[in-house]
Amino acid sequence: MELKALGTSSVKVTPIAFGAWAIGGWMWGGAEGQAAIKAIKTSLDAGITTIDTAPIYGFGKSEELVGQALQGIPRDRYQILTKYGMNWRSNKGEYFFDSIDNSGKPTKIYKYAGRDSVLQECEDSLRRLKTDYIDLLQIHWPDATTPIGETMEAVAKLIEQGKVRAAGVCNYSVAQVEEALKTVKLASNQVPYSMIHRAIEKDVVPQAIANKMSIIPYSPLQRGLLTGKIKRDHKFNAGDTREGNRFYKPENIDRTNAFLQKIKPVADGYGVSLAQLVINWTTRQPAMDCVLVGARDDKQVQENVKSLSFKLSDDEIKTIRIHAEELMLVD
Ligand SMILES: NC(=O)c1ccc[n+]([C@@H]2O[C@H](COP(=O)([O-])OP(=O)(O)OC[C@H]3O[C@@H](n4cnc5c(N)ncnc54)[C@H](OP(=O)(O)O)[C@@H]3O)[C@@H](O)[C@H]2O)c1
Repeated sequence: MELKALGTSSVKVTPIAFGAWAIGGWMWGGAEGQAAIKAIKTSLDAGITTIDTAPIYGFGKSEELVGQALQGIPRDRYQILTKYGMNWRSNKGEYFFDSIDNSGKPTKIYKYAGRDSVLQECEDSLRRLKTDYIDLLQIHWPDATTPIGETMEAVAKLIEQGKVRAAGVCNYSVAQVEEALKTVKLASNQVPYSMIHRAIEKDVVPQAIANKMSIIPYSPLQRGLLTGKIKRDHKFNAGDTREGNRFYKPENIDRTNAFLQKIKPVADGYGVSLAQLVINWTTRQPAMDCVLVGARDDKQVQENVKSLSFKLSDDEIKTIRIHAEELMLVD
């Protein structure tokens, strides 16, 4: 698979990457470790060599599983994107939300990206991932209690030390990116984006293009909804936060499925699934150099890795956009 540079950095990634949030189980109603390792290996075998994870995904579990799955594979054959700045160990930083940890205990999550924490979190990630460098280190969410310059200086230090190859941000606004760029070169901004959730097209994408940064879109399947498998009576496992999410309101599930029926003939024309069509379309949007696709098992990976086996025409891309723009979701 052809690799693409992340921004102007030396890090080259696959156009779709394995998103390792769900394999941590946290906020997805649990997950099975061996199935996750098999899913990562299948993904690598199919040429998807870029993996996005984070310490908070399963409170270390996702990074550990990624580390286990990658053992024995030469380090230059895969790229690890991970994050920092979600704190569950102390009450430092900006309170984010209440959650439940892996042992079922209530816990509070804070956004914290102070210098001390950035440096320590990087060491912890390297240990869990069983590697000596991280390809892209990203702040997970903005932390209002720490000056952006302080956070980015810490990342610049890690780059200087060779522990990190490039700096990225996630969920950063245009103003926050501008501030961060004063201290460090940014390869990317990782932000939510799907056919039915395109808010970033207004300002975040143009800013990335102007600054030669990549957009790393996350949740392109709108967390499973755009596969067409979710119906209004879908039963989620306990702890799965999709239930109650705006996109998963029964009215919005119906409307999204009606939209999917309109674009299905394009998928049928190529003999591919809706998931494959949606992923392919997302890779064709401006600046979206590395589309993060989550999967919890081998079967889903087998399907998703084939998403680049066909080429949509410019007309098909436009037609899909027109249908997406006609879709009105309730709040
Ligand atoms: N930086 C951030 O703040 C942030 C936030 C969110 C995500 N991310 C990153 O982006 C990645 C991708 O986003 P995401 O996992 O939220 O959403 P996604 O890629 O839109 O959806 C992934 C989920 O959809 C279902 N699925 C995937 N492929 C499928 C298939 N072929 N058939 C049927 N179901 C399928 C699976 O869930 P079920 O089987 O349970 O339905 C899977 O876990 C994450 O893993 C993470 O690395 C980052």
